[in-house]
Amino acid sequence: MRYLITSALPYINGIKHLGNLVGSMLPADVYARFLRQEGEEVLYICGTDEHGTPAEIAALEEGLDVAEFCTRQYQRQAEVYEKFGLSFDYFGRTSSPEQRELTQDFYRSLDEHGFIEEREISQVYSVTDERFLPDRYVEGTCPNCGYEKARGDQCENCTKMLNPTDLINPRSAVSGSTDVEIRTSRHLFLRLDQLSGEVREWVDAQTNWPNLTKSIAYKWLDEGLQSRGITRDLKWGVPVPKAGFEDKVFYVWFDAPIGYVSATKAWGEQEGKDWKSWWYNADDVHYTQFMAKDNLPFHTIMWPATILGTREPWKMADYIKGFNWLNYYGGKFSTSSKRGVFLDQALEIAPPDYWRYMLMASAPESSDSAFTWEQFQTKVNKELADNFGNFINRILKFTASRFGTELPAGGEPGEAEAELEARCKEFVEELRSHLKNMEFRKATETLNALWSAGNQYIDVRAPWTLFKQDKDEAAVVIRTCINLIRLYSVASAPFIPTTVETLFDALKLTEEERRSTMTDATDLTILKAGRAFDVPPVLIQKIDDDRVAELKAQYGGD
Ligand code: 2FM
Ligand code: ZN
Repeated sequence: MRYLITSALPYINGIKHLGNLVGSMLPADVYARFLRQEGEEVLYICGTDEHGTPAEIAALEEGLDVAEFCTRQYQRQAEVYEKFGLSFDYFGRTSSPEQRELTQDFYRSLDEHGFIEEREISQVYSVTDERFLPDRYVEGTCPNCGYEKARGDQCENCTKMLNPTDLINPRSAVSGSTDVEIRTSRHLFLRLDQLSGEVREWVDAQTNWPNLTKSIAYKWLDEGLQSRGITRDLKWGVPVPKAGFEDKVFYVWFDAPIGYVSATKAWGEQEGKDWKSWWYNADDVHYTQFMAKDNLPFHTIMWPATILGTREPWKMADYIKGFNWLNYYGGKFSTSSKRGVFLDQALEIAPPDYWRYMLMASAPESSDSAFTWEQFQTKVNKELADNFGNFINRILKFTASRFGTELPAGGEPGEAEAELEARCKEFVEELRSHLKNMEFRKATETLNALWSAGNQYIDVRAPWTLFKQDKDEAAVVIRTCINLIRLYSVASAPFIPTTVETLFDALKLTEEERRSTMTDATDLTILKAGRAFDVPPVLIQKIDDDRVAELKAQYGGD
């Protein structure tokens, strides 16, 4: 088996927040790093989702050409993800030539097999803006409650679902102009109604999917699928290869998932690799998708329907890992209302590994969960700093001052060491099993238990006292602890890769030793007496109460 992993393609219109990271890219990265460490062949693909009205409007607001805007935003996002240690094999863009070609091919196959129909629809047209307006870009007074800033899809004041034609005094949300009118235009629709039975059969066959994923899929199937428009009157997007449609592009949600395929193609072209074997007739590939729950309908229904309708053997997901929401205190993280912590801000507050660990430890897997600064502080101070960082810094510093910077010789491991090793083996098996099952919260709990094992061991074996009584015995404890530090680093690598690199350097591990599996690293006698090491700088800095108060004041809380 080869492992294909994708995380939902982040939309282009701005830097994402912690809530976006925790529900897609970060868990996908932890999973990819784990599988690579286990020696598996992994391809982890992501990229920016660039088409659609929000990108056009954001570009307009910044006074930039939309292509230029997207290039800048792509670079900003790519840079932030790199800093977070996201190990994409390729980070693509849906504005690529590969995307255009593949999207048009998918459309042609669907059309050939009779799954595309043409219909005339009425839409709001803004004469001033010279463009059709998607429903949510029409504003006006709510006929239900009188709220003056209701959107054409819904009134956010009374939550009533609306059509743009329901609004009193409709105007363009782009320019504010009231020179709007209803115009008709022809569009292409995907016959989801005809594909519904096949999609249901496919969903039925996915016996191992998590509840959240399955329940959302069935909710949509049970409500009944209807034809869905796949074209829009816009300039920015993949052109529709059909006479009479020269002024239209495909709807952003039609082309977005094709971005997984096109980014893989771009990767293949760049690396000189066979990209297609990952996607076409790819029975030897196990494919996992990661995403937050709002993306589940598109990935359990619309995208599979698109693939099934081509009548071509494109790879469909074997497993879809969906996440609930990570909230910011009581409410939602929100890009549009700038609520919560954005990724560029997060990097200014703390190193990426603090976030990676904390977010995985609070992953909203079985229900929504909340980010709070207090929780951030607890996870960093009690788990990362006390259980992991302090143990390592303390042992290595002590060793250097008493024995010098080489693993000390003398003594033989005894019962306490055998017991510790046995416990470590159990924890590692548990950790591997959680990671294989993509249970990230449980995985961090086990990792933390593994870190605690070392502290419990030195509480009993107290090398500092032992050193004064029996130097050989103290040397055994120290060698065991330094081997344990090596195990910590290997086992923690999927979660906190940057810190682990520092640790690998401090332990002066060879390339081969760095590639060890967790299982192999449970042998606590591998690093022998005489091996040199460096004392690393303090690995994890605690976050004090004043800082928490400051962050709460700055970002809001409670
Ligand atoms: O929610 C989002 O940010 C979307 N851009 C996700 C797209 S996932 C895939 F289909 F590309
Ligand atoms: Zn209302």
